[in-house]
Amino acid sequence: MASQLFARKPLSLLLEEMKGENRLRRILGPVQLTSLGVGAIIGAGIFVATGSAARNEAGPSLMVSYMVAGLTCVFAALCYAEFASMVPVAGSAYTYAYATLGEMFAWIIGWDLVLEYAVGSATVANGWSSFFQSLLPKLGIALPDVIARAPIAYDPNTGHFIATNGFVNLPAVIVTAIVTAILVKGIQESASFNAVMVGVKLAAVLFVILVGAFYINPENWKPFAPFGWGGISVFGHTVWGETLAGKPVGMLAGAAIIFFAYIGFDSVSTHAEEARQPNRDVPIGIVASLIICTILYVAVVAVLTGMVKYTEIDPGAGVSMAFSSVGLGWADAIIAIAGVAGITSVLLVMMLSGPRVFLAMSRDGMVPKGFFGTVHPRFRTPHKSTILIGAFVAVLTGFLPIDALLQMTNIGTLFAFAIVCAAVLIMRKKHPEAERPFRCPLVPVIPILGIILCLVLMFSLPTENWYRLIGWLLLGLGIYFAYSRHHSVLARLRTGD
Ligand code: ALA
Repeated sequence: MASQLFARKPLSLLLEEMKGENRLRRILGPVQLTSLGVGAIIGAGIFVATGSAARNEAGPSLMVSYMVAGLTCVFAALCYAEFASMVPVAGSAYTYAYATLGEMFAWIIGWDLVLEYAVGSATVANGWSSFFQSLLPKLGIALPDVIARAPIAYDPNTGHFIATNGFVNLPAVIVTAIVTAILVKGIQESASFNAVMVGVKLAAVLFVILVGAFYINPENWKPFAPFGWGGISVFGHTVWGETLAGKPVGMLAGAAIIFFAYIGFDSVSTHAEEARQPNRDVPIGIVASLIICTILYVAVVAVLTGMVKYTEIDPGAGVSMAFSSVGLGWADAIIAIAGVAGITSVLLVMMLSGPRVFLAMSRDGMVPKGFFGTVHPRFRTPHKSTILIGAFVAVLTGFLPIDALLQMTNIGTLFAFAIVCAAVLIMRKKHPEAERPFRCPLVPVIPILGIILCLVLMFSLPTENWYRLIGWLLLGLGIYFAYSRHHSVLARLRTGD
């Protein structure tokens, strides 16, 4: 049995499978992939999470937090890109782990990725709903509380959850349903819809930076790191920095929260199977979109914390409140409209990714093929799992608060990134001869730094996230031993059944 748990899927088999039936269409070029990347990256994180992280975790040093989180992603991105160019099939980190670390790890990482994309989508839908609801009063519409928010909320002052007067976040549920329907219909339509949204979003971010820059008061940047530079705690024991209301604060703690704003670049690699020239286009798409976003993010934080003292930032609507406070109230509506559009494109790409991981897993017998492996005969999309994941996201986003969803997404993603970095090291050792159209530079330094930074950020999140992650992974292991191990295609090939 042990040999099956660590059985690795041969690279040659992966490449052979690429020629098989039931493939997705190859229609995406480098510009579309970069656009999908930017579409997946800039969204709820910068528009919704930045204000609260600046006020509660990092102050103006959030600029450095964004650089640290961006650097972590660049290291992981270079590792992703090496794999995506070697193994241009859907499935991302799941497929990479299967080729290097063996079946059980692959299952765990696939399961973790599905969590990342589903909980991440729920977070984004929740952020979308906040923007949408900030627009409604301008149109003279007021939503009753009972359909405006989840029944519980997180109180940053006490670190506990409190009951609200809401029952369900209905706008978040509805946008999830609409995006699910668009995705069932097809990737081509999705890509062009995405391109328009990305344009709107970039215009809004540039507007914030260029207009806001005139209102910066450098005095607001002092003190630069009011909560200190640290924020690492291991299962409740503070290792570096301070703890407030039971959670770490400081520049690193800020980086662990706003890390969410970078999630999404990895989804470009889940589209490798749809890329025209995956070897070239996927690494370009991943790295280019990440660099563009890092520059924009640091600039937005510089503007936000420069316009308003961090203690005065509205945690719920940081950017729009900063503009109102300098007499540019009219900018509010522009930002809100662009926010709604921009966040929609993130949701689209995130929800596109989960079903593709399941698709890759179903080909290996890890999840039932009849359900997760079917591609719609006309639309050529994995429609059944798209609908299933859509329903799961709708429940999460309707009933859980954004803070809990965001932190859970971060820890799951950081875990996946650390494994991808490790997988590059292992693959270089085990298969030095394999063709690598894109090579991660400075191996082993970059993968090792990637692993360390991911772990640091994981330990800078409030501890309860570790328990949630471990719970989810144990559930996944249970399914692996009950189902997947017995249905593994690779195991049958090896035993000749
Ligand atoms: N990076 C994405 C966002 O900020 C998930 O919404």
